[in-house]
Amino acid sequence: MYLSRECNIIEEKQSPIGVKKLSWEIKEHTKAKHKILKNYLGAWFPIMAFTNPKIIYIDGFAGPGRYKNGEDGSPIYALKIAKEIYEAHLNRLENKEFVFFFIEANKSNYKSLQHEISQLSLPKNFKIITKNEEFSETMEKLFSFFDTTGKGLAPTFAFIDPFGTKYVPFEIVKKIMSYTKCEVFFNHMYSGVLRSKDVTDHTQLYGTDKWKYCLNKPEKLTELYAFQLQDQAGVLYTRSFNVRNRKNAHIFDLIYATNNTLGLEKMKEAMWKADPLGNFQFRDITIPGQIVLFELEPDLSLLKKFLLNEFKGKQVSISEIENFVLLKTPYLKGHIKNKTLVPMLKDDLISVLRPTGSKSGFKEGTLITFH
Ligand SMILES: C[S@@+](CC[C@H](N)C(=O)[O-])C[C@H]1O[C@@H](n2cnc3c(N)ncnc32)[C@H](O)[C@@H]1O
Repeated sequence: MYLSRECNIIEEKQSPIGVKKLSWEIKEHTKAKHKILKNYLGAWFPIMAFTNPKIIYIDGFAGPGRYKNGEDGSPIYALKIAKEIYEAHLNRLENKEFVFFFIEANKSNYKSLQHEISQLSLPKNFKIITKNEEFSETMEKLFSFFDTTGKGLAPTFAFIDPFGTKYVPFEIVKKIMSYTKCEVFFNHMYSGVLRSKDVTDHTQLYGTDKWKYCLNKPEKLTELYAFQLQDQAGVLYTRSFNVRNRKNAHIFDLIYATNNTLGLEKMKEAMWKADPLGNFQFRDITIPGQIVLFELEPDLSLLKKFLLNEFKGKQVSISEIENFVLLKTPYLKGHIKNKTLVPMLKDDLISVLRPTGSKSGFKEGTLITFH
């Protein structure tokens, strides 16, 4: 185990935040959240580590590392997944640096987390930095360290998973997203905004006071957050996911921000894969009016509708269609050809012009006319 003290700009200290004692019994919806995170990290770690000398994983609200009945917490999952990937690709990864920042403000959770990490046997090039302080405090010190050394933040995935919505200033998220190859995955528990009367906190969270106009339709708060990411932080792609229980009650919204299309594709895949959990429904809520439920048997009639709305009367290439589906819909590449375009061809909704030598399928260069 390697508990790094290398980042000497940060001193450990007891947090000023008094977080009430918790039983840390894992809730079903936490398992759902972990499943999505694990699915995504299984793709993010290898893709980023293969192509960069150093990558950083930040868990800004790390928790105690273990739940009451023995289930792993998010930091432990991340370490285990990274280790598995590292060992499976030793020849490509042995010279790569994996840095983990685990920030936890509560003293006893922090101690528990340190203990859990110490139980793992981890590769020597994993640098683990644990901080018993507030997320924003650590991040500000990190930014000033990287900015003064002129190094910038290495490619980073930041998982931000607070209780409620306090202590996550928009400026911090914006700053993370200002570095290249950095991504944020934020658990937006907007019920905290509705409960709390502290308007300064809310304005800090959204980076604007426009949250005031969303209180009668709280789902709009997630839209506002994603809008701020694009408008104020210049983020190219955001996707918002809503998790509901069987009774259709809102549990939480997860907001993902990236500037990379491969990341976007992998996050969408992670969400689709998370569906078969039974107790929860996952839906993509990025674009109002385009809400799509992630199901074992996806409702592809909606994809057909989106394609017709976008391309009716036009001739477009298969790669334009794939690009549209990736960027503007919740669907995946795998939903396009056999599952949607083939039935549309049978129903005479499209016609297909294939490149010379191609008799079937939708190879590169195929043109599709939407009737
Ligand atoms: C939802 S829990 C995290 C659960 C963990 N991510 C997991 O999935 O296993 C939120 C944690 O953030 C800690 N916390 C609360 N305020 C904080 C702050 N300002 N900075 C860092 N940690 C904080 C709490 O003590 C708690 O352990």
